[in-house]
Amino acid sequence: MPKPTDDFLQLVSAARTCRRFDASRELPEGTLSWLVDCARLTPSAGNLQVLRYITVQSAKNREKFYPGLAWANYLKEWNGPVEGERPTGYIVVLAGRGPDNKISAHSLLDTGIAAQTMQLAAWSRGIGTCIFRSFDPKVLGEAVSLPAELDIVTVLALGCPVEERRLVPVGEDGSIRYYRDGQGIHYVPKRALKDVLLAQY
Ligand SMILES: Cc1cc2nc3c(=O)[nH]c(=O)nc-3n(C[C@H](O)[C@H](O)[C@H](O)COP(=O)(O)O)c2cc1C
Repeated sequence: MPKPTDDFLQLVSAARTCRRFDASRELPEGTLSWLVDCARLTPSAGNLQVLRYITVQSAKNREKFYPGLAWANYLKEWNGPVEGERPTGYIVVLAGRGPDNKISAHSLLDTGIAAQTMQLAAWSRGIGTCIFRSFDPKVLGEAVSLPAELDIVTVLALGCPVEERRLVPVGEDGSIRYYRDGQGIHYVPKRALKDVLLAQY
């Protein structure tokens, strides 16, 4: 049996969302399929394993894919990474709609588990990730061919990070909005344990 490890909190702390990458450093071959392999083993409601994945890595396809993503809603003055700092890979997570024509709550939960597993796995190899829920499915669907019966639930953008991201406690003003300082360091406010752990019976 592998030994329990206490550095998981360190991994979760370090695996921050990343939105600026070194576009000249390609992901090592096989990285995206390895991440999907990690996602495929995650818990799934009813073990139905409804999620499907598409990876995008070639420079030509990346270029077509990029305009379909909406970056960092709180950074109003920033329009997303400039050329040279764009992701070097994407993973598209897809699921089918239910009889009500909606993605089920179970599929959304499965997607969250898969996405965070891939984000942590990526960071275990020093690769930064941004999970997207704001995207234009039409633009993405024109960039890569998607199965008609499936919808995009989320997209992960990946690459070698060039931005420093730091956790900070939520301040007195209570704002949870992430921000950057003059050096471009990205700060992410997180609530304190005492404010989220409501009770311990
Ligand atoms: C479900 C989900 C959807 C997200 N959608 C977007 C998005 O569309 N665009 C974006 O730039 N970041 C997106 N993010 C990243 C969040 O903004 C980020 O997780 C948050 O600012 C906290 O930063 P952290 O991941 O470093 O803790 C999303 C994250 C999650 C979990």
